Amino acid sequence: MSSGRITIKNAADIEKMKAAGSIVKETLELLSEKAAVGMTTDELDRIAEDYIRSKGAYPSFLGYMGYPKSICASVNQQVVHGIPGKYKLCDGDILSIDVGAKLNGFHGDAARTLLIGKVSEEKKKLVEVTRECFFEALQFCKAGYHISDIGAAVQKHAEAHGYGVVRDLIGHGIGRDMHEAPDVPNFADRRFGRGARLVPGMVIAIEPMINMGTWEVVQLSDGWTIETRDGKPSAHYENTVAITDGEPVLLTL
Ligand code: MF3
Ligand code: CO
Repeated sequence: MSSGRITIKNAADIEKMKAAGSIVKETLELLSEKAAVGMTTDELDRIAEDYIRSKGAYPSFLGYMGYPKSICASVNQQVVHGIPGKYKLCDGDILSIDVGAKLNGFHGDAARTLLIGKVSEEKKKLVEVTRECFFEALQFCKAGYHISDIGAAVQKHAEAHGYGVVRDLIGHGIGRDMHEAPDVPNFADRRFGRGARLVPGMVIAIEPMINMGTWEVVQLSDGWTIETRDGKPSAHYENTVAITDGEPVLLTL
């Protein structure tokens, strides 16, 4: 969770963040082209790291609090922070990939859930609704709204479909640090109140994590991987978003 003050980015900072964000976006596009049945998540990690470094950027996650890889790759019931390894992608998997890149002192952060082979309608729906949750939230990414408007929008859309909204992990401010203030929950909660008021120059990563079943999650003994408590699938969708005096700017899309 991110403490400290919210940093306001100027136009030059936002340009730098756009450059970092573009690399993240391109990496995700590359991975979505490459991901296929039989491939290991380690191979995807290698492709991502090579691409990010080829652009003169650094993979933000590598070494972050000891994290050993460049991307997070979370299949099916895994929610987030899956560590790439020897797992071979199977027909019908959904694969959440999270990518971060640092360039010229600023980070970009985004995630997509990919469909591997022939995926069930039920899982496809989860992935699509999770993406929609982000865009529901984006409507409130304008100066004058509050952080809680974002979470309320995500929660309303997800719960309307009977899905669970993960509460243990949340979005965040982003800039020179990957995790900055403010916290950006995907739900509205009295404990969080209305949250900060959005102002131009704020940059936040909005990242709905939506479960087909219960919102409850557990952490595996590897110290990273988060899974759903009931073993049902989960999807993730994230972009880095700059607040302006008009429409929000998507830095990773
Ligand atoms: N991208 C994740 C987030 O949005 C962070 C990944 S944790 C790491 O907060 F250790 F893998 F970096
Ligand atoms: Co993030």
